[in-house]
Amino acid sequence: MHANCITETAPAKLNLHLAIGPLQPDGYHTLDSIMVPLDLHDTLVLTRLPAGSGVAIAVSGPAATGVPADHANLVYKAAHALAKSAGVSPDVHITLDKHIPAAGGLGGGSSDAAATLRALNRLWDLGCTESDLSALAARLGSDVPFCVIGRPSRVSGRGEVVTPLDLPLPDLWIVLILPGLAVSTAEVYRRLDAMRQSANRAAAVRKHRVAGIELFNELEDAALDVSPRLKEEFRLLDSLGVPGLMVAGSGSTLFAAFNSSEDANHWAQRIETHARAAVAVRRVVSGRATAT
Ligand code: C5P
Repeated sequence: MHANCITETAPAKLNLHLAIGPLQPDGYHTLDSIMVPLDLHDTLVLTRLPAGSGVAIAVSGPAATGVPADHANLVYKAAHALAKSAGVSPDVHITLDKHIPAAGGLGGGSSDAAATLRALNRLWDLGCTESDLSALAARLGSDVPFCVIGRPSRVSGRGEVVTPLDLPLPDLWIVLILPGLAVSTAEVYRRLDAMRQSANRAAAVRKHRVAGIELFNELEDAALDVSPRLKEEFRLLDSLGVPGLMVAGSGSTLFAAFNSSEDANHWAQRIETHARAAVAVRRVVSGRATAT
């Protein structure tokens, strides 16, 4: 007897370091990143529907604003892509409880798509391997293959080469600063190309070291350039002396990493009194939460 309903969590991702290579003929850039999941997650409940029903999506939760509940949602595309490759009819109802801010550089949509692939593989009893799902994931978006694996990993190619890290990471607490701005990833990459072309030499990338890990983001200056409001927020927090302040991925989330919860909470409180943004302290998780 197969389950009729599966609950799956979709964790946010963070790029601890992100190096960007040159633009490739396919319109994407090569990258080299250490990516980790956070204990901030969306929750999906996937329920079987009668044959011919198709995919139905309901979106709820504190970060639901602006998230589409139709074919524009990556979850819908993931369900259709998996059904097509397996030769089954895509009949499923998906509730998506959103906690990861959309367009915030935390991979929310990508993680939802990956969670959909993992859960439907079980709900529909398809027997796909992790590498089958990763191959499908790469066609949905550059961050989706990492989200399928869901463990701290080195990521390269355009995002499709994911190698889980051998060694456990030290404990890391992340202060997330969520200014509620939407920054387009494609625009940030275009700005990076333009900045690299116009500069006589590449501007120095800010690097930070926390618990022996080097943190940097080569998309940071381009993201700040694309969004003047984000730059203003970044400068305000930088002037407060927030240690190791960074942009998450292509933005708009800002973050700082700490190796003690005391330091993280101290800075979260200071930031909260000054910033025009929501603030949360989250941990890096070393494994993937299991589905029920
Ligand atoms: O793959 P995804 O849809 O997340 O990418 C969004 C945009 O970011 C792409 O259309 C591309 O412009 C840019 N991108 C890139 N190189 C990557 C990943 C994304 O240029 N490795």
